Amino acid sequence: MNWQVPLFDPDLGPEEEQAVIDVIRSKWLTMGDRTKAFERAFASETGVPVALACNSATAALHMALAALDIGPGDDVIVPSLTFVATANAVRYCGARPVFADVASIDDWNVDAASIERVLTPATKAVVVVHYAGYACDMPGIMALAARRGLLVVEDVAHAPCASLDGVALGAWGDVGCFSFFSNKNMTTAEGGMVTTRRPELAERLGWLRSHGMTTLTLDRHKGHAFGYDVVALGFNYRMSELNAALGLVQLRRVRERNALRGELVSAYRQRLAQVPGLGLPFAAHRGEAAFHLMPVLLPPGVRRFDVMTAMREAGVQTSIHYRPVDTFTAYVQAGLGPSTEVPLSHLIGERVVTLPLYPSMRIEQVDLVCAALQKAVQGAAKAHESPATDA
Ligand SMILES: Cc1ncc(COP(=O)(O)O)c(C=O)c1O
Repeated sequence: MNWQVPLFDPDLGPEEEQAVIDVIRSKWLTMGDRTKAFERAFASETGVPVALACNSATAALHMALAALDIGPGDDVIVPSLTFVATANAVRYCGARPVFADVASIDDWNVDAASIERVLTPATKAVVVVHYAGYACDMPGIMALAARRGLLVVEDVAHAPCASLDGVALGAWGDVGCFSFFSNKNMTTAEGGMVTTRRPELAERLGWLRSHGMTTLTLDRHKGHAFGYDVVALGFNYRMSELNAALGLVQLRRVRERNALRGELVSAYRQRLAQVPGLGLPFAAHRGEAAFHLMPVLLPPGVRRFDVMTAMREAGVQTSIHYRPVDTFTAYVQAGLGPSTEVPLSHLIGERVVTLPLYPSMRIEQVDLVCAALQKAVQGAAKAHESPATDA
């Protein structure tokens, strides 16, 4: 489809092209000096001693939980309103995901109270997600974790270089897990990163990333090591030099692009305040957000299908972030859902629509989206009064 306003549009240019060409010419294609440079730069931006690059946030989450010894018999609390990978990673480890609700209809993140409500005697860890790039209440969550002896993993897929109280998201918990998938605030095509302040965890994460091996090919190539031992049941979650080269370029501009996203979100908020009954979450968010997504909550009684169809006809791509994970067939069939503990997440899951947002979006495009949404909501509201003819 030829969208007038697509949902996202990755910012890639000549610098990225050159960086990839340089890797190909160097003939060193994976886990080399560029990956190390990307890790150092990312650690420094995040204010942690160690960052390890890997090939997705899904891999990052799996490694994080494995490094924390999460396994069969353990419960791990995750948000219901997230991408399925957050919960899947818990299941890869043989543990049970337990779903927590959003804090409120205005704050779509889990908080200490919503986590505490679903604690079980078997709860060992919590994975928090900084939804849409807005910080969870980390001081409250870390205080609960300290009180209850819980490990904390941050899913920072939406929030690179965001912070709360001067501390980067991804530097609050035991491990931070980032995504550089192509629709994210910074991209390496596919890619991820784990961050940690705990040196012993960093060592384990390094092993888990590459088959449990104690030395890397690069170290052996450089003559720093001859052999290796295998000390853990590891995976192949390595990042290639091509991805790392892209990441180094993208990282240099992510703060500037986050700020551009923030300006667009302000423009959206101003215009959408005119749409009666439309919910705009995170109006009172704290900290420096990354503004990854622009979700809105449709007024009650307005059919989402009609709104999204009308938006498509106006050339505007929209999406849904997210259908609650506990409602998916694979979760229901496994006896892990649907949860009765997450009513607000279910309500949001039925009424959320995600609007286009990307740094090169123009203000006229924001105007177009807002006008199309206003018209679509009015039209859909009317349609609702007549008998339904479609889904
Ligand atoms: C909240 C969240 N967690 C995890 C992931 C998984 O990221 P990746 O595609 O890098 O595995 C995503 C990707 O969309 C996400 O949005």
